[in-house]
Amino acid sequence: MTLPEIHRFADPAALADGAADRVAALLAAAISARGRASIALSGASTPQETHRRLAARPLDWSRIDVYFGDERCVPPDDPASNYRMARESLLDHVPACVHRIEGELAAAEGAARYAAELEPALPLDVVMLGMGDDGHTASLFPGAPEPPPGAIAVATESPVRPRDRVTLTYETIRAAGARVLLVCGAGKAARLAEVYGELMAAHPQLPIARVGQAIWMVDEAAASQLARRTM
Ligand code: 6PG
Repeated sequence: MTLPEIHRFADPAALADGAADRVAALLAAAISARGRASIALSGASTPQETHRRLAARPLDWSRIDVYFGDERCVPPDDPASNYRMARESLLDHVPACVHRIEGELAAAEGAARYAAELEPALPLDVVMLGMGDDGHTASLFPGAPEPPPGAIAVATESPVRPRDRVTLTYETIRAAGARVLLVCGAGKAARLAEVYGELMAAHPQLPIARVGQAIWMVDEAAASQLARRTM
């Protein structure tokens, strides 16, 4: 396993700025190389500030295809919808080509339709990721059944509501050009240090330790226990 490229920021606002800069650079490089770029956004709360800053970066969004790392199986206007969060913080403000996971459908159907739409666009250029307190990422949870080999996106079940989810698989995330992990807050410091320790293990167990080499964008609070491991 290749160790992460770790960037530490004083606070969440600085992290959001740094992450927006790096993601914008990755997207611009993809556009320069092949005329288009693709990104899978992560969900929940951490990425919102990064999205807002990304909307202001000088990118040709008409050349950018936006996908999602995962979605809760709820309607697109539901407060729990990752699409709704991304729409409010980014997609309403840029002319990107958006490929939504249809959370209003049953998980298996939504996963199948999303995989079919995403397949011709693989590999993704950028996958943004978050980390839950339990070490999950996207909607890949500890102890969950392994996605079938070759699967692009699958239905999964979350231990917390909304339980029904659709998620990219480890394979799809690992195949991307780059993975950018955003982690904020002291509440995640112990788990993040555990993840770092797992990266050296032959068979990492925590989902966020199994996604391939990543660019870690972390605030000092979340990185506070990393120091002992990375010195
Ligand atoms: C989701 C996310 C999930 C998220 C982590 C961190 O749909 O819940 O994709 O993987 O990134 O749970 O969530 P916070 O950013 O809210 O801490």
